[in-house]
Amino acid sequence: MAKPPEHPALPARPRSASLDHPIDAPISRRRLLQAAVAGGIGVNLAPVMAKPTDPRKEPPQTGDDIVFPSWQNDGRAVSLQDIEIASPPILAYPRDPTTQIVRDKSRLNQILLVRFSDEDFSKETQEFTASGVVAYSGVCTHTGCSVTEWDLEAKNFLCPCHASRFDPRNSARIVGGPALRPLPMLALALEGEYLKVRAPFNARLGANKKK
Ligand code: FES
Repeated sequence: MAKPPEHPALPARPRSASLDHPIDAPISRRRLLQAAVAGGIGVNLAPVMAKPTDPRKEPPQTGDDIVFPSWQNDGRAVSLQDIEIASPPILAYPRDPTTQIVRDKSRLNQILLVRFSDEDFSKETQEFTASGVVAYSGVCTHTGCSVTEWDLEAKNFLCPCHASRFDPRNSARIVGGPALRPLPMLALALEGEYLKVRAPFNARLGANKKK
């Protein structure tokens, strides 16, 4: 009579989760952790993923276009003709020239554009200008308000919060008020008639950090 076929051997059943310890023996935290790491039990070994960066919050990059805010002039690129000499500042934002994404979701990307004759600028400031246009951060270095005012007579930026004043012809040096640092500058270039970012801001943006 033919022998019935044997069942293939089943894998041995583990005695417990802790094979080399009696079931009720205390397990040190260290051993438990070692076991968990070895077996991947209960420990998420996936690499910590960095939060995706919102491109609209990225700071200005070299080569960016400079554009009006979306609510002004349809958000088009700012050209030289848009800026009159010694006129109040124009608010603008950087725009990625490839994706056309405007980086307007961070207040720190507010750019103030003003224009003067070349000879009005200090030597240091001149290096950042393009055809007499200079660009500064629009966020006050005192406690971070938006610099929205303009002293028509002195042609200085004026912060409405505590009246700090900054001279745009001279690297935004402080000419009044409690701010301790000038507004950071953004070096500009021209592409045809249009302004472009030549280099990122030259200093830390926004308010002084609390001590
Ligand atoms: S925040 Fe601008 S002067 Fe205080």
